[in-house]
Amino acid sequence: MDTYQKLSLKAATFVASQIILKPDSVLGLATGATPLGMYRQLVTMYEKGLVDFKEVTTFNLDEYLGLDEKDPQSYSYYMHYNFFQHVNIEPQKRHIPRGQAENRERTCREYDEAMDGAGGIDLQILGVGLNGHIGFNEPDCKLQTATHVVQLTQDTIKANSRYFECLEQVPRQAISMGMASIMQARKVLLLASGASKKEVIQQAVGGEITTECPVTLLQLHPDVTIMVDKEAAPLL
Ligand code: F6R
Repeated sequence: MDTYQKLSLKAATFVASQIILKPDSVLGLATGATPLGMYRQLVTMYEKGLVDFKEVTTFNLDEYLGLDEKDPQSYSYYMHYNFFQHVNIEPQKRHIPRGQAENRERTCREYDEAMDGAGGIDLQILGVGLNGHIGFNEPDCKLQTATHVVQLTQDTIKANSRYFECLEQVPRQAISMGMASIMQARKVLLLASGASKKEVIQQAVGGEITTECPVTLLQLHPDVTIMVDKEAAPLL
């Protein structure tokens, strides 16, 4: 796709098609800069009556630990502000890991149980970190299958500091969906935009499969669609 606008429109059309074909779809949702344009397009499609979210269930990939859901830096706030408040997904069908959970283990377990109870994810939308993380499954010698608490890497803390006033404000921990939920999603849509993502997209498509670059594991998934804009594509 030439531009970020075209990428966003195509991604939104892909998601809308999923919902039109299966109105009670379970969507796995991402935050960050990349899917913002897609959410905007989905809102426009909803306003024009082209897509209806009333039977849709959603599970977000991740949330910072320690942030209240009303904190503008939280992913709950992001989802509400950029998407949920504009469309008709029922509040009880929206799921985001609770960043303020007292019993973290139980929260993680309940998140997985809720995903299982909903029948698993039909379409998982992903962005990718510069270091290859998906959700907050960070590069490591091993990866976790289930929803878990993550220590964010220095690379991710630095990359995410663009949304905070200073580096010190970036939370050091998050709750993330595990690799099993992502790999068991029936379809995956991976989005990337901008020149900074060109190396990681090259690795995602043709690099060695390694837990040190979690996005490469998607090469083992049977149904992945990758959409990138021109700037993220030159090494493909
Ligand atoms: C966000 C998430 C992360 C982002 C990734 C890319 O929910 O799970 O994996 O997708 O950090 O972020 P952006 O799109 O801001 O470059």
